[in-house]
Amino acid sequence: MERLLALSIPPLGPIRRRVFSRNGQGKTKGQFRLGYCPNSPDSGDTNDTAMITEEDFIDFTCPYCRDAVSFPMQHRDSLQQCPMCFESLVVPEKPGEAGRKIALPFSTERLALRRLGPADWQDLLDIMSDEETFRYTSGHPLDEEAILRWLESDAHVKLTTPDQPFCLGLALREGGKLIGYAGLRLSAPDLLQAHVTIHLNRAFQKQGFALEALKAVLRFCFQDTRLHRVTATCDSRNSAAVKLLEKAGLRREGEFVKDNILHGEWTNTLCYAALREEYTEPAAAQQASQT
Ligand SMILES: CC(C)(COP(=O)(O)OP(=O)(O)OC[C@H]1O[C@@H](n2cnc3c(N)ncnc32)[C@H](O)[C@@H]1OP(=O)(O)O)[C@@H](O)C(=O)NCCC(=O)NCCS
Repeated sequence: MERLLALSIPPLGPIRRRVFSRNGQGKTKGQFRLGYCPNSPDSGDTNDTAMITEEDFIDFTCPYCRDAVSFPMQHRDSLQQCPMCFESLVVPEKPGEAGRKIALPFSTERLALRRLGPADWQDLLDIMSDEETFRYTSGHPLDEEAILRWLESDAHVKLTTPDQPFCLGLALREGGKLIGYAGLRLSAPDLLQAHVTIHLNRAFQKQGFALEALKAVLRFCFQDTRLHRVTATCDSRNSAAVKLLEKAGLRREGEFVKDNILHGEWTNTLCYAALREEYTEPAAAQQASQT
């Protein structure tokens, strides 16, 4: 009896995805000669081929399309894309466990964090047509047409779409108004690191909403989505962003001097990051960094 075995390779190089059929009656000794295996923390292998045996796979059911899928063991407990339906999922830690859906939307005390939709255009226009929004960030105020184009293209972005911002709207739980958005850009090829940005309607700043949202986004990244590292950057003059990132627990990693031209002027960029172990086991991470 044959069954389908789908092997997903993160999007890098010529080999993106392969579908194998294998004998469903127990493990076989079959070996697959595969392309570069990019997400292996322990391989240290820079050759562009690697041998993977069937024992190195974890089989489970996609929680979205219910197809049987199989990923290399090195992807256990990590964010991946279903090779059948392309939805983002978390691979189970052990064989026999279920694959997990991405926990969206989610809420904080005052906010609902959810995908953006066509009905958000007016609230987004309020935020993105304000020149002050771009005082310390690149870009320029957007008009209605640009917002509608953005919303249309954002609808096609998934969390696992590499190097594209996946936007989460920040909506008031009371009344539903969209008061800001957070962008998460996962980097290729391994999709284990994300860069976060956050923008808030000026009328709702200085009320703790950004901090509330960012803390929830970090929880989403590390606890739900099992990312390894989250980064953020800001203009060194952007004191609101500096406060926000530091209060949310991001660690300052450095400052690039005059590395960016912003509105015609060379500016400094502050770099922040957090690791999953710092977030989930802060005491252990601190001890490790001291040894
Ligand atoms: C960066 C940005 C999101 C920060 O927003 P913010 O409103 O300053 O951040 P918060 O919502 O967390 O507000 C913090 C302030 O709210 C106050 N606050 C906190 N909780 C509060 C609460 N529950 N009720 C009322 N006020 C509260 C605090 O006094 C805090 O100020 P303090 O740090 O001086 O004490 C905002 O300035 C922005 O959108 N800027 C434009 C885009 C940008 O530059 N983004 C940065 C790229 S990462």
